[in-house]
Amino acid sequence: MRRRPVGGVLPDQTKNSSKNHNSRLFCLASLSAIFWFLFLYFHFVVLAHNRNNNYDLLQSTKLAPSLPFNHESTPTHLTIPNDSQTHSRKFGFRKSHHDRDGDHDTRIREKKSFPFERALRTSDNMSDPCGGRYIYVHHLPSRFNKDMLKECKSLSLWTNMCKFTSNAGLGPPLENVEGVFSDEGWYATNQFAVDVIFSNRMKQYECLTQDSSIAAAIFVPFYAGFDIARYLWGYNISMRDAASLELVNWLMKRPEWNIMNGKDHFLVGGRITWDFRRLSEEESDWGNKLLFLPAAKNMSMLVVESSPWNANDFGIPYPTYFHPAKDADVFKWQDRMRRLDRKWLFSFAGAPRPGNPKSIRGHLINQCRNSRVGKLLECDFGESKCHSPSSIMQMFQSSIFCLQPQGDSYTRRSAFDSMLAGCIPVFFHPGSAYTQYTWHLPKTYTKYSVFIPEDDIRKRNISIEERLSQIPPEQVKIMREEVISLIPRLVYADPRSKLETLKDAFDVSVQAIIDKVTNLRKDIIEGHTDKNFIEENSWKYALLDEGKHEVGPHEWDPFFSKPKDGT
Ligand SMILES: *[C@@H]1O[C@H](CO)[C@@H](O)[C@H](O)[C@H]1NC(C)=O
Ligand SMILES: *[C@@H]1O[C@H](CO)[C@@H](O)[C@H](O)[C@H]1NC(C)=O
Ligand SMILES: *[C@@H]1O[C@H](CO)[C@@H](O)[C@H](O)[C@H]1NC(C)=O
Ligand SMILES: *[C@@H]1O[C@H](CO)[C@@H](O)[C@H](O)[C@H]1NC(C)=O
Ligand SMILES: *[C@@H]1O[C@H](CO)[C@@H](O)[C@H](O)[C@H]1NC(C)=O
Repeated sequence: MRRRPVGGVLPDQTKNSSKNHNSRLFCLASLSAIFWFLFLYFHFVVLAHNRNNNYDLLQSTKLAPSLPFNHESTPTHLTIPNDSQTHSRKFGFRKSHHDRDGDHDTRIREKKSFPFERALRTSDNMSDPCGGRYIYVHHLPSRFNKDMLKECKSLSLWTNMCKFTSNAGLGPPLENVEGVFSDEGWYATNQFAVDVIFSNRMKQYECLTQDSSIAAAIFVPFYAGFDIARYLWGYNISMRDAASLELVNWLMKRPEWNIMNGKDHFLVGGRITWDFRRLSEEESDWGNKLLFLPAAKNMSMLVVESSPWNANDFGIPYPTYFHPAKDADVFKWQDRMRRLDRKWLFSFAGAPRPGNPKSIRGHLINQCRNSRVGKLLECDFGESKCHSPSSIMQMFQSSIFCLQPQGDSYTRRSAFDSMLAGCIPVFFHPGSAYTQYTWHLPKTYTKYSVFIPEDDIRKRNISIEERLSQIPPEQVKIMREEVISLIPRLVYADPRSKLETLKDAFDVSVQAIIDKVTNLRKDIIEGHTDKNFIEENSWKYALLDEGKHEVGPHEWDPFFSKPKDGT
């Protein structure tokens, strides 16, 4: 940087002077004056300018000390790496020249440098199998995770969670007494255990890094679901919000936060989003306000049910009872599900919602009861077969279609249990799966499921038996094969071992987060902004095909027209 003005100007001046023989003294004096002028000019103007640039550079990264821009400010380093990602790293080079080329946009880009550029560049390194996929995990104080496990008795008012936190979050092994499961890999997993399973699964991720400057995304191993579960019933809002507030305070003080204001951060709460979206400061309102905190709006939170109207949460599968330790366990299970004899056309496991006049569950239960090809496992209060994993899985394995209506919220764990059994799910609301698990399920929902709008049941009293028996057997077979092929990406592998080639629900989620952050980083560098983005339409964006950005009216608008009411 410094050489250019020096090398380009001084030698010329020296040459001219040697030709002047007449007034050597005058010439020497003026030369010396010119020299000093140039020297001082160079010193105060050019160097000062460079220093300013370097200062900016340092400032933008000063809170992220491990970010390696050192070689960039080395004065002797004049060559610029020739690859697309480094385009904007020509920082400060052109400013002192009168280059007229380039539109305004490029010039702005060339001035800017981004603290995540090194991370982006790792994907250009062909000899690095982890390039572009590194995850940095925050070293949180133990009160945000491990300590909660020690106090597992207090984690739920209704259930002693201690047994469910065993085996890395999988719970106690299920014995295969009735031959419904396989001998290995089955556990009595609690539906809200994803916090722990996901964090433990992260320990097996093959591209962890201790260097946050090369991370494609940053994981926050906070047990958000366990935290709120402790305080949902009978605690004041300050208790419910305490850990969330402490967490964001802690995170925002970290240098990693400043890389992208937290937009590369993600965390997991294995509960429904409504537990983290308290709408007011009223004590009687439900849940905490984690997902409404400004810091959390910049992060991505993975939950088992996301909000259709918000952009900072993403649906991931509920855990099932199956946690394979190796590929072969999955293949064997899939083969078995293909060969089963399914004697019921459709089945339903669940309880009615007599208090909710809009619930269609009562209708479904009646239809199951009154059909010779329908099967019902009714969950009444107290002990019931409906709570036995073996009874549930047995019924799903003997059914062609499994009814999955809304319950108290849009989604149910049951949808995943039924697909694991190779049973084709029947959904009645698009929020039960189609707008939720867009990372894990095909966008073309007719490939793996049947959709019967709630109003067909509620208002038109259609016969489920009739509707389902109209689907030709060949098509049923193709759909079932699709469901069975989805199994690997819907289950959480045993966090204590590793699948060889298959991608499980964890792998799919992490890749999706990486893609999201990477695209955002590229957009920032290229100056793209989605000016038309309307957060309330989040569910529509989630359904868009790759590369599409615009949303319009949608056939499912009526299902999502009344926010908060439909929950
Ligand atoms: C820089 O890379 C482009 C393609 O990425 C290539 O066409 C060009 O020749 C390269 N220039 C140099 C100087 O290596
Ligand atoms: C590319 O990746 C290899 C393997 O991880 C590593 O040893 C090497 O330093 C990387 N090269 C660059 C330029 O980062
Ligand atoms: C909330 O409850 C905790 C204990 O349950 C109590 O210590 C605290 O004072 C309460 N805070 C408010 C604002 O009522
Ligand atoms: C969230 O991101 C925006 C835009 O990058 C930034 O202006 C804001 O300060 C961030 N919020 C927090 C709490 O860091
Ligand atoms: C719905 O249809 C069934 C026969 O398909 C009938 O028995 C039942 O009474 C009907 N229910 C209502 C509410 O109309």
